[in-house]
Amino acid sequence: MSGNFLVTGGAGFIGSALVRGLLREGAGRVVVVDNLLSGHRRNLDEVSGSVEFHETDIRDYEALRAAMTGVETVFHEAAIPSVPRSIRETLPSHDVNINGTFNVLRAAKDAGVRRVVYAASSSAYGDTLVLPKVETMQTSPKSPYAAQKLMGEYYMSVWASCFGLETVSLRYFNVFGPRQDPSSPYSGVLSLFMKAILDRSCPTIFGDGEQSRDFTYVEDVVALNLKAAQAPASVSGRVFNGGNGGRITLNQAWTLLQEIEGVHIPANYGPPREGDVRDSQADTTQAVEYLGHAPQYSFEQGMRATLEWYRATR
Ligand code: UD1
Repeated sequence: MSGNFLVTGGAGFIGSALVRGLLREGAGRVVVVDNLLSGHRRNLDEVSGSVEFHETDIRDYEALRAAMTGVETVFHEAAIPSVPRSIRETLPSHDVNINGTFNVLRAAKDAGVRRVVYAASSSAYGDTLVLPKVETMQTSPKSPYAAQKLMGEYYMSVWASCFGLETVSLRYFNVFGPRQDPSSPYSGVLSLFMKAILDRSCPTIFGDGEQSRDFTYVEDVVALNLKAAQAPASVSGRVFNGGNGGRITLNQAWTLLQEIEGVHIPANYGPPREGDVRDSQADTTQAVEYLGHAPQYSFEQGMRATLEWYRATR
């Protein structure tokens, strides 16, 4: 894959996987922009000699504009994620996820970038009457985070229609895998489960554990991003689901980890979490048809690979 690329949030969990994916595919130049708020330099250790690292906040227009010089494709992964965090700390998530995204688009247009591929979120759907969730469904965000990510999609398509910048939004569905940081209470649930099973401690499940997610292995998301970057210009301005089409409950996920480890550790159950969506599952038809999406990892394969990574890096 030739060309010059920039990844915002490139020292984060998904961003750093994308950076490694780009280098594997032979990218010419890979620029990383990250403020190291939740990203870590160690995530780029194996590739540090091959990337151009800018410790930059996406709210800093001038620095972003400079970093984008000569770049053709931007992957915008930087964000303050987490539904509950966006409810408890409204200002920082608004500022980074909305104003930061605006800056990324403004800088990309001014720098003559060809395409921006955006990390949108399945949370935009909220609770739908029907599963799986299709891109044509009415969105219904239940949290500031969901609303912010949806606003980002609107901005992407408007930058395509008003300014001729090519954009593609990928609605991620609960991405998991190596390097997802389990150290915060706002961490993704599977990273917390991995830590708990290796510590032989009880995880806390919010609600009855029967809520479900289309947990998607990070390498499938990386592959989809690379396809979105190379898809014909006719996809510009559009939104695609980036899940793998399955649906797993939290109880099933915790049971699987206990089976793999051969242990019996009942989970603690707490009250349901504010802003939570009950069920989430992607209809992948459009991503398959227009982007060539082809997820390679079953949930169990992804879980086993992730668990081995956490075990090896403890
Ligand atoms: C949401 C988005 C996802 C996005 C993520 C960013 C949906 C359907 N998905 O994920 O696309 O990438 O925000 O942060 O909206 N839980 C526990 N115990 C814990 C932690 C979480 O039971 O210790 C539960 C939560 O209450 C929730 C589920 O696990 O029901 C998943 O939570 P989490 O991993 O935080 O992701 P979502 O909020 O689903």
